[in-house]
Amino acid sequence: MGELVTEKHVKYILATEKRKDDFESVVMEHLRMSGAYWGLTTLDLMGKLEAVDVNEVVSWVTSCQHESGGFSGNIGHDPHILYTLSAVQVLALFNKLDIIDVDKVTKYIVSLQNEDGSFSGDIWGEVDTRFSYIALCCLSILHRLDKINVEKAVKYILSCKNMDGGFGCTPGGESHAGQIFCCVGALAITGSLDLIDKDLLGWWLCERQVKSGGLNGRPEKLPDVCYSWWVLSSLIMIDRVHWINKEKLTKFILNCQDMENGGISDRPEDAVDIFHTYFGVAGLSLLEYPGVKPIDPAYALPVDVVNRIFFNK
Ligand code: FPP
Ligand code: ZN
Repeated sequence: MGELVTEKHVKYILATEKRKDDFESVVMEHLRMSGAYWGLTTLDLMGKLEAVDVNEVVSWVTSCQHESGGFSGNIGHDPHILYTLSAVQVLALFNKLDIIDVDKVTKYIVSLQNEDGSFSGDIWGEVDTRFSYIALCCLSILHRLDKINVEKAVKYILSCKNMDGGFGCTPGGESHAGQIFCCVGALAITGSLDLIDKDLLGWWLCERQVKSGGLNGRPEKLPDVCYSWWVLSSLIMIDRVHWINKEKLTKFILNCQDMENGGISDRPEDAVDIFHTYFGVAGLSLLEYPGVKPIDPAYALPVDVVNRIFFNK
């Protein structure tokens, strides 16, 4: 097992931006805003955010904002709540939240809350607890949580809780570590973590660790680096992270690196991508790996950025 090859990952992330026509870029085109959030947050966690041109990124982000207030994944695409959070997170990284019309973004998110407290992802109406998390996270960062019905939002999230202690994407939906992150994160942001049975959920989450040390997202599934984030952040928020073997998980993530060209894959020997590179480094951050800045488990932003937002530090 090697160390974290920081310089190689920086090179890989900067090169991803420039590859406009290979397979990954074509797949990424419509969700480039989230790609930017994954890449830039990884750079920041490794202390290398200065390697990018701030003005170029910020002006591209602002050109993805629509009349409705929402952001799209790239210029010329439709707005969606997913990319709206990514845009807000990218601006937060650069301390540039003041350049957007916050009331307009707020209006967009408020318009997506449904009567039962749930949130739709865009005007087409798909409902998912991912969108509840995104709405709450985004409004909290913008200091506008008071503009929605938080009580109903929390009630809806609780209606997606299962007998095994986990959460699904809608009421009755199977427990899935990605949705659990969203629901636990939303409850953390609204100060409602006391509504969770922490031992029951902690047990389900720590059972996600398999022999290799990696974590899976559901029973019987293969381990995957991105679940280092979804599972670990949830365990930290409910104070049960000591229930998994941190050393073995660190080794699993490090084994997924491309030691030559940089980047991290979902599991050892697979092809790397920017999504797993981010969640690998974010996972290492939660594991307190030396040289990686701490990340906030609820907001998925570096702790210093979150402190700047809430304590003006
Ligand atoms: C698994 O996805 C992950 C989820 C369902 C959670 C996604 C959460 C968000 C988009 C909210 C924003 C997140 C952050 C970090 C700010 P998958 O489709 O890979 O699941 P699979 O492994 O079952 O295929
Ligand atoms: Zn994955």
